[in-house]
Amino acid sequence: MAEKIPFGKSDFKVSQMGMGTYYDPGWIFSAKLLKRQANWENKVAAIKAGVENGVNLIDTAELYESENLVEKAIKPFDREDLFIATKVWPSHFSYDKVIKSCERSLKKLGLDYVDLYQLHFPSRIRDISGTMKAMEHLMDQGKIRNIGISNFDLERTKKAVESLKKYEIASTQMNFSVAHRDIENDLIPYCKENKIAILAYYPLGHGRLVSPDSKTAIVLKEISENHGGKSAPQIALNWFISKYDFVFPIPRASNADHVVENSGSMGWKMSEEEIRKLEQSFN
Ligand SMILES: NC(=O)c1ccc[n+]([C@@H]2O[C@H](COP(=O)([O-])OP(=O)(O)OC[C@H]3O[C@@H](n4cnc5c(N)ncnc54)[C@H](OP(=O)(O)O)[C@@H]3O)[C@@H](O)[C@H]2O)c1
Repeated sequence: MAEKIPFGKSDFKVSQMGMGTYYDPGWIFSAKLLKRQANWENKVAAIKAGVENGVNLIDTAELYESENLVEKAIKPFDREDLFIATKVWPSHFSYDKVIKSCERSLKKLGLDYVDLYQLHFPSRIRDISGTMKAMEHLMDQGKIRNIGISNFDLERTKKAVESLKKYEIASTQMNFSVAHRDIENDLIPYCKENKIAILAYYPLGHGRLVSPDSKTAIVLKEISENHGGKSAPQIALNWFISKYDFVFPIPRASNADHVVENSGSMGWKMSEEEIRKLEQSFN
């Protein structure tokens, strides 16, 4: 089983690879309006396979229509071993709506609390202080154990940090991969300094990194040979693990074979030279 590391400033130990449960707009549309969750059994099996292979961080959102799949998948496991994250959508950022959204999510997840509750996107219209008051109230009630944000740039992240009175921001969630490294210029140093964990979404470039182009393929082949035949997705996910101890990639879990393969991204590290060559191949 892969080693687990502390999540941000918390004592909770989390697998460095997590799992995402966003299944694209068409799937969400069908689930929401037609009440049809295509291939839901495969998705539940994929999430279960991840937990069985040492992955205990699971990310969902009220938007994704997948909270009920997470509920089904985690039933056989010990709640206290899992780190469950969900998100509230900006149209629910008023004080009362944040509370209602959280209660709705808890019901769908079949849980008394979530480990991480995240603001999904910054709101263009609403001042964040009322939203954060509601987040702090949920912390006081024990319904959420950590407060997170997502898609906040550095300036907005600083405002979010300042807007909390009793608690601290535990994490942010951003588009980040070896092929998309913009946040290394600003948000990464800030989060490192302030011990804010980062959940990396699109860690496989939304699928683009699983079939590399010819330039990248040469470097991947060399790294694979050095590490017992690791695959392209395993190397792309290991890049986070080799480089950072506060970044948690969350590739999506919809195919059990892929999830099991991806869990092989944990438990080993690339050298600094390999990391440099891999990054250069994407420049
Ligand atoms: N906060 C936000 O605004 C935000 C936005 C987008 C996403 N997210 C989160 O990030 C998670 C990940 O994003 P994502 O799923 O779009 O992108 P991703 O994980 O980078 O890529 C997913 C794609 O890679 C494929 N894949 C994964 N492992 C593979 C393997 N071993 N071999 C071959 N193909 C493989 C998947 O196919 P299969 O499905 O067949 O495995 C899928 O097509 C989401 O589930 C969600 O939780 C957050």
